[in-house]
Amino acid sequence: MTVLVTGGAGYIGSHVVHDLIDRGERVVVLDNLATGFRIAVPAEAPLVVGDVGDGALVADLIAEHGVSAVMHFAASTVVSESVADPAAYYRNNTMGSLALFEAAVRGGVKHVVFSSTAAVYGNPVQQPVGEDVRPAPLSPYGTSKLMTETMLREIAAAAGLSYVVLRYFNVAGADPKGRIGQSSRMATHLVKAAVQAALGLRDHLDMFGTDYPTPDGTCVRDYIHVSDLSAAHLAALTYLRGGRESVTLNCGYGRGYSVREVIAAVKRVSGVDFHVAERPRRPGDPAAIVADARAMQRELSWTAAHDDIDTIVSHALAWERQLMMQA
Ligand SMILES: NC(=O)c1ccc[n+]([C@@H]2O[C@H](COP(=O)([O-])OP(=O)(O)OC[C@H]3O[C@@H](n4cnc5c(N)ncnc54)[C@H](O)[C@@H]3O)[C@@H](O)[C@H]2O)c1
Repeated sequence: MTVLVTGGAGYIGSHVVHDLIDRGERVVVLDNLATGFRIAVPAEAPLVVGDVGDGALVADLIAEHGVSAVMHFAASTVVSESVADPAAYYRNNTMGSLALFEAAVRGGVKHVVFSSTAAVYGNPVQQPVGEDVRPAPLSPYGTSKLMTETMLREIAAAAGLSYVVLRYFNVAGADPKGRIGQSSRMATHLVKAAVQAALGLRDHLDMFGTDYPTPDGTCVRDYIHVSDLSAAHLAALTYLRGGRESVTLNCGYGRGYSVREVIAAVKRVSGVDFHVAERPRRPGDPAAIVADARAMQRELSWTAAHDDIDTIVSHALAWERQLMMQA
């Protein structure tokens, strides 16, 4: 009954690994440490350093640890990087996932929870976005994830395994207990970057695009606290073990904040008025995207515990301060 967590040394995966261990689950982590950190993995979870695309390694690991469920976080995740080098994203995200799924089926794995993204929707006209909206990704990153969703659906149907695809909106914040957070040094995520600017780790914050058709001209996103997202993963595992059918679910709060509103929250919570530089739009960024998250609440019996932008920011700030003290 071991859970294999790919990408468990990364930001979101490491939160889920901690929460799985807290729940008494047996966990093994597979991560190539491309953007993850060995120290992010708790001692109770063995870390295998390797690539999800290495089918032989994954097969050995599944057999050795008796893996019955896979939580698949491992991926390259930067939209602008995927626009510059699409092949790298299809290789790592799509082909890597194919090798993983094949090994999982051969190894008799029963359940898969897959980290997908709101980027599969592109620039939807209808807000909030339900899972039934036709996906139309704007970037190779989004397409690489949509292709993986499709492969998983078809492979699962043929092999008789069940899955939950979780389409995350914007993930932010850190473990409220202070055990873990987002450690990537030059993250492109807004909350992390703004917190770094507030702490003087960046001399300014870049704001990309001020002429979008949104109330204040900046992009609107649905920010979900990483611990609430982690709780959704544990609920997804329980759901699958209960014999329920495969499902694709949005993960968000159903409420959007503009870039300017998030920056105001970081300034308010930190008490620092850092410099913000207005830049042109970035390719691949939709104007607004907010989740219709009712299906996740209904199917997983999930409720948010940290649905508050100031709480998200204060946890991100606390983690960034810890990182500064460790440096
Ligand atoms: N952070 C967000 O807001 C967000 C939003 C939507 C979806 N997601 C998805 O959530 C997942 C986790 O994202 P994150 O923010 O924690 O990123 P992250 O970069 O912190 O974590 C990714 C982890 O995967 C590992 N990895 C990458 N390629 C690998 C490979 N081929 N083999 C083994 N390990 C590999 C990295 O070393 C890293 O530890 C990703 O699949 C990402 O696409 C994230």
